[in-house]
Amino acid sequence: MSDRVIPIQSQATLPIPALRAPLSSAPHDTRGRPLRDLRISVTDRCNFRCTYCMPKDVFNDDYAFLPHGELLTFEEIVRVATVARGLGMEKVRLTGGEPLLRRGIESLIAQLTVALPGIDIALTTNGSALKAKAKALKDAGLQRITVSLDSLDDKTFRAMNDADFPVAKVLEAIDAAADAGLGPIKINMVVKRGVNDHQVLDMARHFKGSGHIVRFIEFMDVGATNGWRMDDVIPSAEIVKRIHAEFPLAAIDANYDGEVAERWRYADGSGEIGVISSVTQAFCANCTRARLSTDGQLFTCLFAAKGYDLKALLRGGADDAAIRDAIGAIWLQRADRYSEIRTAETAKGRKVEMSFIGG
Ligand code: GTP
Ligand code: 5AD
Ligand code: SF4
Ligand code: SF4
Repeated sequence: MSDRVIPIQSQATLPIPALRAPLSSAPHDTRGRPLRDLRISVTDRCNFRCTYCMPKDVFNDDYAFLPHGELLTFEEIVRVATVARGLGMEKVRLTGGEPLLRRGIESLIAQLTVALPGIDIALTTNGSALKAKAKALKDAGLQRITVSLDSLDDKTFRAMNDADFPVAKVLEAIDAAADAGLGPIKINMVVKRGVNDHQVLDMARHFKGSGHIVRFIEFMDVGATNGWRMDDVIPSAEIVKRIHAEFPLAAIDANYDGEVAERWRYADGSGEIGVISSVTQAFCANCTRARLSTDGQLFTCLFAAKGYDLKALLRGGADDAAIRDAIGAIWLQRADRYSEIRTAETAKGRKVEMSFIGG
């Protein structure tokens, strides 16, 4: 599942800042936020063409995906993760594109498990290749999995993934993952008004009592290609209201500081749901996430237009201390809060352009 879809390979990178003072083992950025999570994109490819993420008119036969040599190798990924761990990082999430399309992904997980004992390793997938791989992923050391599923209605789902992929196969994959011991599974549903919001109650009903946790996500303006409009967003408050009217809900505390999802439990004890309000209630104040792109750039915000070229360091002979200094210096000067700015601006009735926040 894609964190960002801007075709970054054609963009210039940011200069890596110099370190001005000795680095602590848990540097905080300019807004007091530590580096806790590293989200690693292992491929820019996907077999789906979700209309909000990789629309076919952009990601077509002419689209230049990264050539293999531009991808970070597993050794390079493990090296960056190990250095980040020394700076306080405690959670790795493998993403893409579709991470299960990266050949040997189990081997990367196994290498991370060995190199970073005790680390929380999760993966977000579209589920299309999960049934066949679930056991191998678990055996390699994967602890948690999130499956994206935008609709239970086959017609709606096929239209949204725009690859004619059937819902039944994703549901089978979720069962296979649970059987392999990867449960409870989180199911991410991006809700887009007029496209799949009629499926909100069905999703809640289907997974209620299953042990799995559906998270309803406000549709965001990720990348430059998804034609975002505020009108397309169903605010989380409305989602909670709709579900609560049918299945009474009660708010529950976050599992950990900075958790992105707001948790609600069913009053009858049959499990919980989550809502992710990146548009209406931005969570930048607690954002502890760094992102490593497929081609080895470090991004300090989902919406950053440019990243820092770690691959050049990795391939230029830098030792671990130099990579640690680079990541530490980047983190120390981090000031990102894109969603907060967007929330404030849309409340004033303005549409925020990327150019408004400096790209
Ligand atoms: P856990 O709490 O560890 O299970 O994972 P998570 O909820 O942080 O991760 P996941 O990848 O499932 O994130 C869910 C959704 O939240 C993503 O699909 C995004 O839509 C949104 N999201 C995650 N991180 C960020 C972020 O840093 N900024 C913004 N604006 N949205 C984010
Ligand atoms: N808005 C919200 N979430 C999105 N995702 C992808 N594009 C968007 C968007 N525009 C989600 C996927 C997946 C996660 C990694 O990101 O559905 O669950
Ligand atoms: Fe994007 Fe959809 Fe592929 Fe995930 S499954 S990376 S949302 S196109
Ligand atoms: Fe973090 Fe806010 Fe940027 Fe999202 S928009 S990555 S929460 S700083």
